[in-house]
Amino acid sequence: MLTRRSVARLAGAALIALSTALPAFAEPIIIKFSHVAAPDTPKGKGAVKFKELAEAYTNGAVVVEVYPNSQLYKDKEELEALQLGAVQMLAPSLAKFGPLGVQEFEVFDLPFLMNGYDDLRKITEGDIGKALLAKLDDKGIKGLAYWDNAFKIMSANTPVIVPDDFLGLKMRIQSSKILEAQMQALGAVPQVMAFSEVYQALQTGVVDGTENPPSNMYTQKMHEVQKHATLSNHGYLGYAVIVNKAFWDGLDPTVREQLEKAMAEATVYANSIASEENTKALDAMKAAGTTEFHEMTDEERAQWVEVLRPVHEQMADRVGADLIAQVYEALGIATN
Ligand code: LMR
Repeated sequence: MLTRRSVARLAGAALIALSTALPAFAEPIIIKFSHVAAPDTPKGKGAVKFKELAEAYTNGAVVVEVYPNSQLYKDKEELEALQLGAVQMLAPSLAKFGPLGVQEFEVFDLPFLMNGYDDLRKITEGDIGKALLAKLDDKGIKGLAYWDNAFKIMSANTPVIVPDDFLGLKMRIQSSKILEAQMQALGAVPQVMAFSEVYQALQTGVVDGTENPPSNMYTQKMHEVQKHATLSNHGYLGYAVIVNKAFWDGLDPTVREQLEKAMAEATVYANSIASEENTKALDAMKAAGTTEFHEMTDEERAQWVEVLRPVHEQMADRVGADLIAQVYEALGIATN
């Protein structure tokens, strides 16, 4: 039989149980992570890895909702949404920061600048990379990390083997003035277009071709609507992971540290899979047989370099001659 004292003890125990359980009832902090790429890409997988780690390290106090494939916003709109706080996290390509007024990121778009991921690391993991991310502070944005994708393939419905092949072709580009200058140097007509619209534009002939790493080309099925591609590796496409600064600064410091740890580990993961994901995507496209892939010869490459390297000097005012000089120094590129 329950005595008065045992009832009181039970009630006390129930209260304690309730109060320790309370944090589980507290509303979680939601991070909406919006991006434009497919889930099955280095960025898509990196975002999911961050979600898993962030939720585990914060013990569920943070819930990360990942919205891939432009489900929420297209390229330009997602940056506006981030600044307005409608979403908290993005990973736009480095070629898309111009409209924010931080066009220095376009330095990564300079053609034939880097010779692979090792060169890239010298920039992203050094002082230049840090200084670039810090430039976002003034825009109400905090830069957290650089995530890799890969070097780009040029594709079109006609062969694009030497620069002359581009004459008059309408080529879709991301919103970067360097990429605009690159396509113009090739004699093509650049057309800025949101990533989510590229497949249809290629299918209907609104544009003739485009440039992208294999992972994007494959997961957006662009190979189904591009007959030719050249493995030109002429430029790099990668990302900066960014958050709304007011949101980030307003987090409890312990939670922020847990999220920083999750981001650091998700970054290592995303960057460790990027190269392999792109190789797999290229192999899958080759197997599909809808696109003829051309391996560049040294002679062809020399022609591309001759036409495209002058873009560095031509666009020095856009990204800053000083910045280009710093990048050259970091990469050991001789200037004369
Ligand atoms: C593109 O627009 O081509 C890319 O930036 C898409 C992406 O996010 O990889």
